[in-house]
Amino acid sequence: MTATTATRPLDEQKLMDFVFRAVDEVGATLNAALVVMGDKLGLYRALADAGPCTAAELAESTETSERYVQEWLNAQAAGGFVDYDPASGRYTLPPEQTVALTDETSPAYLPGFFQIALGSVIDSPRITEVARSGEGLGWHEHVHDVHEGCERFFRPGYNANLVAAWLPALDGVVEKLERGARVADVGCGHGASTILMAEAFPRSSFVGSDYHEGSIATARERAGAAGVGDRVRFDASPAATHAGEDYDLVTMFDCLHDMGDPVGAARHVREMLATDGTWMIVEPAAGDSVEENLNPVGRAYYGFSTLLCTPASLSQDVGLALGAQAGEARIRSVVIEAGFTRFRRVAETPFNLVFEARL
Ligand SMILES: C[S@@+](CC[C@H](N)C(=O)[O-])C[C@H]1O[C@@H](n2cnc3c(N)ncnc32)[C@H](O)[C@@H]1O
Repeated sequence: MTATTATRPLDEQKLMDFVFRAVDEVGATLNAALVVMGDKLGLYRALADAGPCTAAELAESTETSERYVQEWLNAQAAGGFVDYDPASGRYTLPPEQTVALTDETSPAYLPGFFQIALGSVIDSPRITEVARSGEGLGWHEHVHDVHEGCERFFRPGYNANLVAAWLPALDGVVEKLERGARVADVGCGHGASTILMAEAFPRSSFVGSDYHEGSIATARERAGAAGVGDRVRFDASPAATHAGEDYDLVTMFDCLHDMGDPVGAARHVREMLATDGTWMIVEPAAGDSVEENLNPVGRAYYGFSTLLCTPASLSQDVGLALGAQAGEARIRSVVIEAGFTRFRRVAETPFNLVFEARL
């Protein structure tokens, strides 16, 4: 007998409510694939450009099959992503969805969020296996949608906050960057944060690093395309061996909790920093207790943590597995254990916490 049935009798209405909530959840699960499909086929962009249009018109303008587009549109309309007018048989992308689904410069831009979610789901059979054995699964072992989705998910938030709010919240760092500082961006993935900082502070020099060689290859391409190759270098190396010393600023964006040995990585940051240098740590938003994270953001992050972050850490030496919802107190303890004497929260958004650590 379960705890629930022991404490109270079955409530038939609650059972039906749960079943119908599950219908919505299954629709949402499938919609992750449909959003990525719409993004890759250019359906949202074409809908936004065309205004009210039929499935046939949308299929023609995107050179896709009308029958598939018809079904996709109906699923989008049923989910409230697209408006449908039965009188004309036309579909419209509302203005808010147009921003969220097509405007890469908006902090509300969503396709990357769906893309990393879909990639995580695609790889979930492998997580089911390692959940039996307790082994890990490295970041590098995931499908490309995880790597690209991660970049596209986080970049809008970095665009909106990094230069405007997070760096200015650090003590004296912007002045150093303007004069010309040495910066290391550890666990940089596709280098979105590195390139943003390099664009904003042309007198500074930047070394991005990540243990995943595929991500570093993409980061180099991105830097070339952004025209910042003169002041940015990318190295394929784990955090524990990032080369160089006397850095004025070391940054880690949404990656400390993914590392197997975050305390070891933090000790290496101490060796990399100049005496008056700063370590900026950006981590997923989280409270310190489970109950503080039982909300929609916590739900998404616990999901990513199960499928991506925890296995990533467990795949490496030590395997501390902080999880994406580690929270401020846990991050502080890692930083202090590594020998930093000062640690404070300097900024936050609904998705991220930003910390400053000093020697
Ligand atoms: C969630 S992604 C964040 C990537 C990037 N910082 C961003 O914000 O888009 C985590 C990154 O940490 C990297 N990573 C994990 N363990 C690492 C380690 N021990 N050393 C260096 N990078 C690591 C992964 O390869 C991945 O690129």
